[in-house]
Amino acid sequence: MLKGRNLIKPNDLTVSEIDEICALAEQIIVDPNSFNEVCRGKILATLFFEPSTRTRLSFEAAMLHLGGSVEGFSDAANSSTAKGESLADTIRTVSSYVDVIAMRNPKEGAALLASRYSSCPIINAGDGGHFHPTQTLTDMLTIRALKGGFEGHTIGFCGDLKFGRTVHSLSEAMSRYKNNKFVFISPKELAVPEYITQYLNDAGVEYTTAERLESVIGDLDILYMTRVQKERFFNEQDYIRLKDSYILDNQKMSLARKNMIVLHPLPRVNEIAPEVDDDPRAAYFKQVKYGMYVRMALIAKLTGVL
Ligand code: NCD
Repeated sequence: MLKGRNLIKPNDLTVSEIDEICALAEQIIVDPNSFNEVCRGKILATLFFEPSTRTRLSFEAAMLHLGGSVEGFSDAANSSTAKGESLADTIRTVSSYVDVIAMRNPKEGAALLASRYSSCPIINAGDGGHFHPTQTLTDMLTIRALKGGFEGHTIGFCGDLKFGRTVHSLSEAMSRYKNNKFVFISPKELAVPEYITQYLNDAGVEYTTAERLESVIGDLDILYMTRVQKERFFNEQDYIRLKDSYILDNQKMSLARKNMIVLHPLPRVNEIAPEVDDDPRAAYFKQVKYGMYVRMALIAKLTGVL
């Protein structure tokens, strides 16, 4: 039963609940018009304490396509946070107006804290470098559509694996399926945090690490590229030194399998050359569309209308 639940980290959902959400998203894709009234009278609040394009706008588009309404803020400077209001009080207030809240906050753990004070479901739309479960649902719906399922994939995660919350979320989620292998490709300074490798060790998941993308790209079924997370660096010099560690271009794509897919949560900066966009294996703009449909399915389930 998903009605009334919070989504703070991907594994708050069971494997069968993920299937249920993906199956509903697939039904919506086939016949969107038959879902355009299901959230009539419901309100989604989007509370974004950090910048966003896709996540916030796809949440809002999702609710509007379901016939519901949206309110919120895209910059905490325009909210009472700027006057010193606590997150707990903001959440107590907003949850008394709306049916579901999607929140992004720069602090790890903020979504969990919000869920303790909310009288409606909280969806974590990113908490610092921690988790981003609806990006994971987006990635998984894309993988299901383009690769046929969640098992038996070799997935390369490339870029900023230290601060990249989408990597932490997707690797945890995919570790629950059989025969997946992970290749973590990053400079040493941006390696995946220990709490993730610990989780994978405990789950008995096979993974390797690499520093050169060229040396492993030929082994991958899925390449998940990520941006170096400028806003989470303490020191600008380190960011400048590391920001262009990986640039995927046609030359590197020529070393990859014919059926590999390239995913990226976006925004991209320099890590995928625009020439790759025309390669049929580039799936990152398709992924954007799946993100809206999967959020439609999630909102419908958490509000209990479907
Ligand atoms: C990601 C995020 O915010 O974590 N973007 C997104 O939601 N699609 C990735 C990023 O900002 O690099």
